[in-house]
Parts: sequence; structure tokens; C-alpha cells
Amino acid sequence: MKTSEQAVTRTPAPAIRIDKVSRHFHDAQGEFVEALRSTSLDIAEGDFVAIVGPSGCGKSTLLNMLGGFDHPSSGRITLDGQLISGPDIDRGMVFQDYALFPWLSVLDNVMFGLRHTQSREDARAIARQWLDLVGLADFERKSPRQLSGGMKQRVAIARTFATNPRVILMDEPFGALDALTRRFLQQQLLKIWREHRKTVVFITHSVQEAVYLATRVVILTARPGQVKLDERVDLEHPRQINDPKFRDLETRIFDALDEELAKTFKLEASDGYAD
Ligand SMILES: Nc1ncnc2c1ncn2[C@@H]1O[C@H](COP(=O)(O)OP(=O)(O)OP(=O)(O)O)[C@@H](O)[C@H]1O
Ligand SMILES: [Mg+2]
Repeated sequence: MKTSEQAVTRTPAPAIRIDKVSRHFHDAQGEFVEALRSTSLDIAEGDFVAIVGPSGCGKSTLLNMLGGFDHPSSGRITLDGQLISGPDIDRGMVFQDYALFPWLSVLDNVMFGLRHTQSREDARAIARQWLDLVGLADFERKSPRQLSGGMKQRVAIARTFATNPRVILMDEPFGALDALTRRFLQQQLLKIWREHRKTVVFITHSVQEAVYLATRVVILTARPGQVKLDERVDLEHPRQINDPKFRDLETRIFDALDEELAKTFKLEASDGYAD
């Protein structure tokens, strides 16, 4: 539900339009790889869209293009009608491989995105708040290479949230975390999304996580990725994973995914390893 102030100041839906986007690559051996084929999706302001799909179906490729770090081979991606042509502070990204700067300390990594908008003092204070929230207050002087995978992931999350972006793009952000930290950060993300009406695009391999968090779950087909199913999740937060409605939706999504997983494994076998 939007407040009247947001209704006045925010632009009407859809905020993000992915319009017949295809992306292909030539890999290191010069082979043609079609990652996405004519994929279309409208994402409204304030939506929380979870994207699931088999490994290699183009999820990261799509998110990288939303972030402006990559560009479609054909088709268009717009934010409020403006073509996304590069990264911008209105879109914050948590990359699948964290993408921390190894030469900067943990604190400087989190301060990095604030350097143009805040004084050094304010940037440090904001970064420390976020490091505290993700449980890394005592690690600010460390270098990323001194951290575990889950800790790096938490630094990447702190770095993204610290800049307070309007659109949050997250590529399997909680994948390397233990169950308790994951649960805590899921709650933090929901809180931020609800209180500040962010637009979130969230890639996950966990169907349960998708149904637990999102307003919509989008399932991509095996490569080349296209939208196979787009399910609205009409369940109040906090959601109960034992709720029969939760379970029904989870089952429907699993069924759709199973078909695509079967195709993926056949595809990979034909890539050369079968014989
Ligand atoms: N820069 C690139 N050069 C060549 N091929 C690429 C490149 N980026 C992605 N691909 C290929 O595009 C396809 C989609 O990759 P992508 O990383 O988007 O998959 P994904 O759905 O995120 O997979 P996962 O769930 O394993 O992270 C894969 O076949 C991958 O090998
Ligand atoms: Mg990926």
C-alpha cells in the first residue's frame, strides 16, 4: 500500500520495462551462447520480484543488464521510460561473486558508493551503521581476502544498502550464509523494502526463499532464458512456510522448475561431457 506522499512523488508503474531482450555471447572458444531470448517483464515501483531458474539460464546476465553493467544484444531495458545505459546510484547491485575491491579495507569498500554524495565523516558513520547491522563491526580494518565467503557477502550487502538506492538488484545474496544469518538478513531486507518502498529484483536458487520474500516469483526457462511463469504471491508478511497456500505455490513453482531442470541437464550433456 502506498502512502499519499509516495503516490504524489513517485512515477506510475511500471518502473522497469524489460522489452524483448535477447543477449548472446561468443565464449572463449568462439562458440555462440544464447543466454536470453526475447525476454519481456514489467516491474512496478515497489515490487519485490524473485527470479528463479536453472543454472546457466541467464539470470545473472539479466540482472547485470538491469544494473547497466552489460547491454542487450537486442531489445530494450528502461527505468521510468529512460534507457538503462550504464550503472547509476539509483540502482544498487549485490553481485553473485560479491565484487569487493581487494585493495580496500572492509570499511572503505562500504564507504565507496558514498564518496560522491556524503562527506567523509558522514560516509564513515553510515558505513559503520551498516557493518554493525550485518555483524561485521569488528572487521572494518580487515581486507576482504581475510574474510570468509559469508562475511564477504555481508560486506557486499552493507555496501549496497549504505547508498540507499531506489532499486535493489541482488544476485543470490544470501547463498553463502548460514541459516541464522540468512534469516536475519531476509528480515532486514523485508524491513527496508516495506519501510522505504524499494523496488527489489532478487535472484535465488531457493524456491522457499522466493515465496517467503517476494510479491512476484518469476521462473525462467532453461537457456535461452525466457519467462515461463510469473506468479503473484498474495500472502501477508510474516509468511508461514507451513501455510497450505504457501505450500501450494511452492509446489506449483517446483513443478514448473523441474521441467526446466530436466532440459538443462540434457543441454549440458550435449555440450560435450556425455560422450
Ligand atoms: N561474458 C560471457 N561470455 C560468454 N558466455 C557468457 C558470459 N556471461 C554469461 N555467459 C553464458 O551465458 C549463460 C547464462 O549465464 P548466467 O551467468 O546469466 O546464468 P545464471 O542463470 O546466472 O546461472 P547460475 O544460476 O549458475 O548463476 C551461460 O551459458 C554462460 O556460460
Ligand atoms: Mg548467476
